[in-house]
Amino acid sequence: MSSDSTALQSSVVINEAVQSLRDGGLVAFPTETVYGLGADAKNPEAIKKIFSTKGRPSNHPLIVHLAAPDRFDQAQVDWVPVLAPWVRDLSEDALKLINAFWPGPLTLVFKKDKSVLNELTGGQDTVAIRAPAHPIAQELLRKFKGGVVAPSANRFGKVSPTSAADVRHEFEGVLDLMVLDGGDCEVGIESTIIDLSSGDRAILLRPGVITPSVILAKTGIRVYQPGEVFSETELLPKVSGSLKAHYAPTTPLRLYASGRVLDALSEFPDTKSRVAVAVWDSESSLSHDGYPLVHFEEVVIPSDSATFASRLYRSLRDLDQQDWDLILFPEPPVGEEWDGVRDRLQRACFGSGPSSSNHVSN
Ligand code: TXA
Ligand code: MG
Repeated sequence: MSSDSTALQSSVVINEAVQSLRDGGLVAFPTETVYGLGADAKNPEAIKKIFSTKGRPSNHPLIVHLAAPDRFDQAQVDWVPVLAPWVRDLSEDALKLINAFWPGPLTLVFKKDKSVLNELTGGQDTVAIRAPAHPIAQELLRKFKGGVVAPSANRFGKVSPTSAADVRHEFEGVLDLMVLDGGDCEVGIESTIIDLSSGDRAILLRPGVITPSVILAKTGIRVYQPGEVFSETELLPKVSGSLKAHYAPTTPLRLYASGRVLDALSEFPDTKSRVAVAVWDSESSLSHDGYPLVHFEEVVIPSDSATFASRLYRSLRDLDQQDWDLILFPEPPVGEEWDGVRDRLQRACFGSGPSSSNHVSN
């Protein structure tokens, strides 16, 4: 993702986006994970617009996006001045994680500097920060010269957008939104979130493509699972992404146990049912024999976890546009590299269906 994607968006348009942020406007922009809905992190009115546009409760905190220091591709880069205005302490572990993974799909939660607005932290004394790797995001942030808060650019509880067209579709008729086009997102699911605010332990708040084993291998830092540290009640207010319903299509979505797709289909014996069945590209196609009742069609999905992640939201959106009564996905295999997509799929199932607006999430 380099010159090709930057070429999609000229500097003139990025300058306009910078001006719009300075004027208190919202700008949607690409990151390597998903598209974000950005606003000036120092402007309380602009932040309020994010919450109202998404329909997101105001106590769900936002991530601050920062530009990497100049020449970030060189070995010795000083992140301390970049973070100093936002965080109270920068531990040695924090710097190790930053040097290993920024810019990239990793968000870190710190104790916040007192100047950080309560509007963006949902009133908490911590702040989540990341430096996205996408060149358009970096150019926007460098030119803006400040922090940009950006949740995923979708309406509350819905599937996150991984292309500029998805963002436009999401807010069509609601808002005339400036959308920077950086092509399709490479990673495809949101950043991994690690909480460093307790000072002693690194805690995984949201799984993503940067997994605890990758972190251990690159930095020697052990990342704890939330269940090892927090009780259920302590955790819920901290992470809105921990709500059961999230990332949800309007068409009902269910998971089937590996190899048991036909059992899942037989639960829908209505001859009028039209079911989209996702099957691994490594599996031979399903036989329709013996299951003539429902009409089903196969959608082939990649059996490599990174490719699966990069296409997950795209597939859910595309299938949701088609006329299916049900979407079936296989349960992802056991293994840490699948935790991010398993997390998204399970929450998407829970919130899916026409009444999903009853459930809440961001
Ligand atoms: O990949 C990403 O992280 C994308 C792109 C646009 O950067 N952004 C994103 O933002 O996923 P959003 O708002 O959809 O999800 C942010 C998550 C929420 O689950 C929120 O609760 C959590 O970050 N979060 C933000 N601040 C936090 C804090 N201080 N403590 C704990 N969790 C926090
Ligand atoms: Mg989101």
